[in-house]
Amino acid sequence: MNEITPETIDWENLDFSYIKTDYRFISKYKDGKWDEGELTTDNQLHISEGSTALHYGQQCFEGMKAYRTEDGSINLFRPFENAKRMNNSCERLLMAPYPEDKFVEAVKEVVRANEEWVPPYGTGASLYLRPFMIGIGDNVGIKAADEYIFSIFATPVGSYFKGGMKPSNFLVSTYDRAAPRGTGAAKVGGNYAASLLPGKEAKGRSFSDAVYLDPETHTKIEEVGAANFFGITKDDVFVTPKSPSILPSITKYSLLWLAENRLNLKTLEDDVYIKDIDQFKEAGACGTAAVIAPIGGLQIEEDFHVFYSETEVGPVTKRLYNELTGIQFGEIEAPDGWIEKV
Ligand SMILES: Cc1ncc(COP(=O)(O)O)c(C=O)c1O
Repeated sequence: MNEITPETIDWENLDFSYIKTDYRFISKYKDGKWDEGELTTDNQLHISEGSTALHYGQQCFEGMKAYRTEDGSINLFRPFENAKRMNNSCERLLMAPYPEDKFVEAVKEVVRANEEWVPPYGTGASLYLRPFMIGIGDNVGIKAADEYIFSIFATPVGSYFKGGMKPSNFLVSTYDRAAPRGTGAAKVGGNYAASLLPGKEAKGRSFSDAVYLDPETHTKIEEVGAANFFGITKDDVFVTPKSPSILPSITKYSLLWLAENRLNLKTLEDDVYIKDIDQFKEAGACGTAAVIAPIGGLQIEEDFHVFYSETEVGPVTKRLYNELTGIQFGEIEAPDGWIEKV
């Protein structure tokens, strides 16, 4: 039984695990339309055994956070980007799109209803939000469902790096997480199921996670675990891979903009060949959970390549991290439209 309450929670020592909060949003799609949706205290779903989500992976999800600011208000970071990306995932799996403005409104409703669960400013913790959609109903053949559930739950999560950002090492995987013209650019469960074994093998060898190469030629870096890759070249260009099988990371696009407009770096979205790894003086993984996870070293077959250092975070990585988290927690002025107040 979950005994944790907002009164007893240890905000400073939260990790990334499920804590049941008070309310979640749930909406149903039937007969060609979404209902109004409502908040519920029930965290169990009762669905047909024929649900397409169970058999054919017809499901998608999003990950985002609500941040407590110094004045006590609550920020969402670019939530319309999550709404758009979920609808791109829906399109790829023939699911019913959910209106973007209603998506953001529902996220706000969930945050407001769980306000006591939004971690205090200064702890580095935040309220993680997990919107998801599943195909449901009595089905058995391989086809798109006629009915869907869209839901959003919330759970408080800790700062990824307790006691400061630290580099860690990664392993270039011999597995693929996505097919060349498959679903790599969509946030769908199947991609993550496919990554469990390579991730486990990497962790079993004391690496943080697996790095995936492009599934077509296995010569270019694509993803770092469940995060995008970036590198800083020796002449200060922020480079990140461009590929149709990468999940378009909202953090990555935000860093691209900040690198160019706040740090005055040149930026480039392009192929990142593993043979050219020496061009980078710093490298990192970026995504909502970690913001930035600096890559200390990369194991490439028999070679171990160190970027900036295995123990210290490079100066450009540090500046990017400070700029982005400063914006999210309301300490630094945000570019227009990036912050949505709850
Ligand atoms: C495979 C993958 N790549 C990249 C990301 C980072 O995306 P974002 O910055 O939008 O969280 C995520 C996390 O959502 C992911 O699962």
